[in-house]
Amino acid sequence: TGMFTYDPGYTSTASCTSEVTFIDGDKGELRYRGVEIEELATNHEYLESVYLLLNSKLPTKEELQDFDLELRHRSFLHQGLNDLFIAFPSNSHPMATLSAATAALSTFYFSHLDVCTEEELQVMARRIIAKMPTIAAYAYRTSIGAPFIQPDIDRGFTENFLYMMRAYPGGKMHRGINGEDVIRDIEIKALDTIFTLHADHEQNASTTSVRNVASTGAHPYVAISSGISALWGSAHGGANESVIEQLEMIGHVDNVDAFIARAKDPEDDFRLMGFGHRVYKNFDPRARILKELQVQLQYELKLDSHLMQIASKIEEIALNDEYFVSRKLYPNIDFYSGVILTALKIPISMFTPVFVIGRTVGWITQWMEFKKTKGAKIARPRQLYVGK
Ligand code: CMC
Repeated sequence: TGMFTYDPGYTSTASCTSEVTFIDGDKGELRYRGVEIEELATNHEYLESVYLLLNSKLPTKEELQDFDLELRHRSFLHQGLNDLFIAFPSNSHPMATLSAATAALSTFYFSHLDVCTEEELQVMARRIIAKMPTIAAYAYRTSIGAPFIQPDIDRGFTENFLYMMRAYPGGKMHRGINGEDVIRDIEIKALDTIFTLHADHEQNASTTSVRNVASTGAHPYVAISSGISALWGSAHGGANESVIEQLEMIGHVDNVDAFIARAKDPEDDFRLMGFGHRVYKNFDPRARILKELQVQLQYELKLDSHLMQIASKIEEIALNDEYFVSRKLYPNIDFYSGVILTALKIPISMFTPVFVIGRTVGWITQWMEFKKTKGAKIARPRQLYVGK
């Protein structure tokens, strides 16, 4: 092609160098700053992965405590943002509200990037990570016309999100039949693991959007807003919402064969949601961890066995079918997260916002890495002109 390479969808183009996340798609390996995802998901809480991504090392106990406390303090939203949420129509999709409110953060916290110190950039990072669960919960409450619940300083990152989703005005909570706390530890742990698995994933479409905006010198919060927009689509993070919708549409194990046939039909646009990945060609290690978690939680969290049955039938057929095997199409992270999120009483429209909460650290970490790259260039691909 002459002076440049034609690579639609960038299947073979490395757009940057990075020290953040490593993926070996053939072996099914994923590491944040060199630490295996299995280790992080099993033996560490989400905030430790957040700290690791930002600081290139796991925190000590004291560092984690300070970090946790700072994030709690930063989780509140500027009063002016409330008015913005109120202006959106109820029934708006939370992803649209989330993207808009995140862009609006750059009006409340504007700084001239060229004069920011490293510490000021780190504060920007911690601020947006801390506020994202609150923005997401407010976006949900806007979508159902319910009053906002402020964060509770006595609750940690993951618990606070469940609290802001579930509480009644005045912060009151429904008690269980025996008066037990309605946010169970097992629920916090499950959601925390889901956040950890979503924390970063190198140069995926949304992160690439964030880096592209970063390359023009714009404010980080609008860069992250563009990441949220890119994530919304069903080929990317929106797949977690589509998976459950598709399982519900299939409706019964007896209908699975017909839908598999549609997915294989070259004349039909229908795709099996939650299958396939640009990089993983063996298995998605995040999916494997979530599948194990599903099995562990099946009875304790009363996972929807009807949906799980349909999902396992799809998996069983697809994993043995020549079409899927030859194209190396395996279940991805989004195939399993929905059943667990449903059991956590997270509404379907909030599945992709949950992905956003987990991924915000990845976006801002990659944004900062870009900022520090000496001689980094504006993202400006070429084209093959085929017009008149
Ligand atoms: N169902 C049926 N066929 C599929 C699927 C699927 N889910 N995914 C890919 N294929 C086929 C595709 O039709 C093509 O076949 P052929 O070679 O005959 O034309 C072949 O497999 C290669 O697909 P591709 O679209 O060229 O692959 P890609 O790397 O560009 O796309 C993908 C990757 C994830 C966008 C795609 O697999 C897909 O649309 N999957 C469903 C949506 C989904 O689950 N997305 C979540 C991805 S993981 C989390 C995240 O990134 O957010």
